[in-house]
Amino acid sequence: MKHACLALIAIALFLLMTVSGPLAAADSPDTGAGKKGILLVTFGTTFPEARSAYENLAEEARRAFPEIPVHWAYTSHIIREKMAESGKKVHSPTQALKKMEEKGFTHVAVQSLHTIAGQEYHDLVRTVGRLKQKPGGIKEIRIGKPLLAGPHDMKAAAQAILETLPEKRKPEQAVILMGHGTHHPANAAYAALMWRVQLSDPNIYIGTVEGFPGPEKILSRLQDSQTDTAWLMPFMSVAGDHARNNLAGGQHEAWKSIFTRAGIRCRPVLKGTAEYDAFAGIWIRHLGEAMEKR
Ligand code: CO
Repeated sequence: MKHACLALIAIALFLLMTVSGPLAAADSPDTGAGKKGILLVTFGTTFPEARSAYENLAEEARRAFPEIPVHWAYTSHIIREKMAESGKKVHSPTQALKKMEEKGFTHVAVQSLHTIAGQEYHDLVRTVGRLKQKPGGIKEIRIGKPLLAGPHDMKAAAQAILETLPEKRKPEQAVILMGHGTHHPANAAYAALMWRVQLSDPNIYIGTVEGFPGPEKILSRLQDSQTDTAWLMPFMSVAGDHARNNLAGGQHEAWKSIFTRAGIRCRPVLKGTAEYDAFAGIWIRHLGEAMEKR
């Protein structure tokens, strides 16, 4: 009886091993030889005080994936050069992926920290596509989508905007978010998001520096609504050059100057979206999707 029991256990164990072996391997192909890494990709900024947004994102990525090293790349050549002049070496996405390959990374999730899937995001997709074709490189490179990549993100981003309004803002006061904007069709995401946010709060506007709508369009709406105060906030991952100059700077063309000349009291809040966990969480969710994708 004892022997029969042992034999049964042995058979059961054998079956378990033969069944679970290949299945387990298919579920997690990276165990053993694989070395996973994360590459966060952003335009970049030269403002040290703006970089706390990046630190927050890296921190969130580490919290979500504690075992996986986080690397950075800046897409802007000019910013990389300026950083190099001050003794800080920052890689381009291609350079960073080459370095990661040299360090033995086999599976890399590249997370775009862009706001919309515009020109820069698609450039990154092309860069990664070229590296994927290279024989003998990193085995698997996947891309995590930008902030506003689908209907679910629009809903989450609208919610994040409502959650991160300045504490002292009164409902009748305007909140004007400055997106970057682009000639790329993905620019439509800003107006789509504004429409969604305005269903909950009609005094929130999203304009852009380089796309549609610009500040004049928003000003005419403000004048219709008789708002006397506007909170100005960047709708970009960091509060860098555009936030400090085009939004809240003293130049004639800065949004603050335009609205102030029209008699509206301006209250800038210089914080990038990546500084708020409500937005960072959307990028981190996309990173998770990229890590899980087969
Ligand atoms: Co720009």
